[in-house]
Amino acid sequence: MKQFAVVGNPIAHSRSPEIHVAFAKQTHIDLSYDRILAPLDGFETTIKDFFANRGDGLNITVPFKEEAFALCDVLTERAKAARAVNTLWMQNGQLHGDNTDGAGLVNAIHALSWSLNNRRILILGAGGATRGVVLPLASAGAKEIVIANRTVARAESLVDDLSAFIKNTELQTIALDQLTGHFDMIINATSASLSGEGITLPETLTFDHAYEMAYGKPSSFIDQAKERGVPTADGLGMLIGQAAEAFYVWNGLRPNLSTLHF
Ligand code: ATR
Repeated sequence: MKQFAVVGNPIAHSRSPEIHVAFAKQTHIDLSYDRILAPLDGFETTIKDFFANRGDGLNITVPFKEEAFALCDVLTERAKAARAVNTLWMQNGQLHGDNTDGAGLVNAIHALSWSLNNRRILILGAGGATRGVVLPLASAGAKEIVIANRTVARAESLVDDLSAFIKNTELQTIALDQLTGHFDMIINATSASLSGEGITLPETLTFDHAYEMAYGKPSSFIDQAKERGVPTADGLGMLIGQAAEAFYVWNGLRPNLSTLHF
């Protein structure tokens, strides 16, 4: 039996075991998938023990994705761009790291039949969540990605870093309080909804689709989009999408998401 787990702190709430077990059932792969609580100062020991005990793969969640990135011997391009890793495995004695969050978002958006190709996308926030998705959105064909942040210098430094990875998509920054114009899609990647604070979208900002990366919490971002009659989605699809991509990296099989319900 293959052994997988998700490592985080806290971890009790993680839905990854439920999702991976459903994928395994559908694809007839014999695996176990556990939750591992790592001490805040004991992440490296936790993952070394897991692989020393013949573990096959780990997902990494808050707050260890950057530490996981730093520990890898081999990284995928999208993990290098994200500077964070959510998927680990060992190959020939080397620790490999990937980041499937952005692919999860792209897959979730495509599953909604919202188009990214040649589109103008606005991302709210310039933290780790944004860093993880810019390259995959660009690779999916976005024409322009504008990153809006409360602290505009943070958005500028993110664009400086990411421009080395991105060739055919225009990257721009804007201060959150200067938002205006029309976008095909807005993605909320701030942690504002998680903290219960809201972001007020100005009337002069218009958009056709709204994606909230958080899930399972009230979101004033989604409420405002709904008031305007704009189609919305929350981050559950992204969570399932990143899991499906990690499952593919480890097992070489893609679950059929259209027949699964979480
Ligand atoms: P994550 O890894 O989830 O992206 P992060 O790196 O702490 O978390 O980034 C949080 C993002 O949410 C940042 O873009 C932050 O803006 P600042 O860079 O200006 O701090 C944004 N954010 C958090 N709370 C916010 C709020 N109430 N209003 C606007 N932006 C907020």
